[in-house]
Amino acid sequence: MKIVLPKGRLYDDCYRLLRKAGVNITSPENRKLTSRTDDYELFIAKAFDVPVYVEHGVDIGISGMDVLLEQGSDVLVPLELPFGKCRLSLAMPEWNVKEPEELEGYGIGTTYINIVRKYFNEMGVDVEVFKLNGAVELAPGIGIADAIVDIVESGNTLKANGLVEVHKLMDISAILIVNRVSQKTKYEKVNSLVRNIRKVIKDGY
Ligand code: PRP
Repeated sequence: MKIVLPKGRLYDDCYRLLRKAGVNITSPENRKLTSRTDDYELFIAKAFDVPVYVEHGVDIGISGMDVLLEQGSDVLVPLELPFGKCRLSLAMPEWNVKEPEELEGYGIGTTYINIVRKYFNEMGVDVEVFKLNGAVELAPGIGIADAIVDIVESGNTLKANGLVEVHKLMDISAILIVNRVSQKTKYEKVNSLVRNIRKVIKDGY
């Protein structure tokens, strides 16, 4: 079975959860991005690519709900996981706080351009959304954005950069994602893995 996990802050939780669920993967070493045991092949990918890999053939992955919604990948989501809890929020400089409805004509910097465009379209507010690949909190201070939409966990990054959380677009957590074809062709393996993970979570992961 092929499994893809995201590099970065979710990785340790993903690895621990899968090992506890009896998945005998080992972490790749020395900058390798893959490792193999008798039953599993593990791939380590950029977080935003995990749903893409699972849609296109990797059997199982762990992603953030935010990333899946942004990528719009066609995968199954059998389980929400008990980590990666945070929120996607609109934030602005503390000296110019406005409600989302008042942002007509404003520039918004974000990694989540699809989610943000949809959000403002549905509200009927015309904004200019442009993509940044990280450290999004810089943009208002530099003067290239009036507001940002980004992940907030503790709120420390916003505060440290003079920004205020104005509106929460959605709550986020890590999720298990499954390839649609694998769900059918590897039905038993996939289902037993989902059952085992569910049990680990229930027993107080
Ligand atoms: C994420 C996010 C925020 C920060 C929020 O960035 O983009 O910048 O964490 O966390 P906080 O509310 O606890 O301060 P990450 O560290 O993943 O790096 P990035 O800026 O490259 O996205």
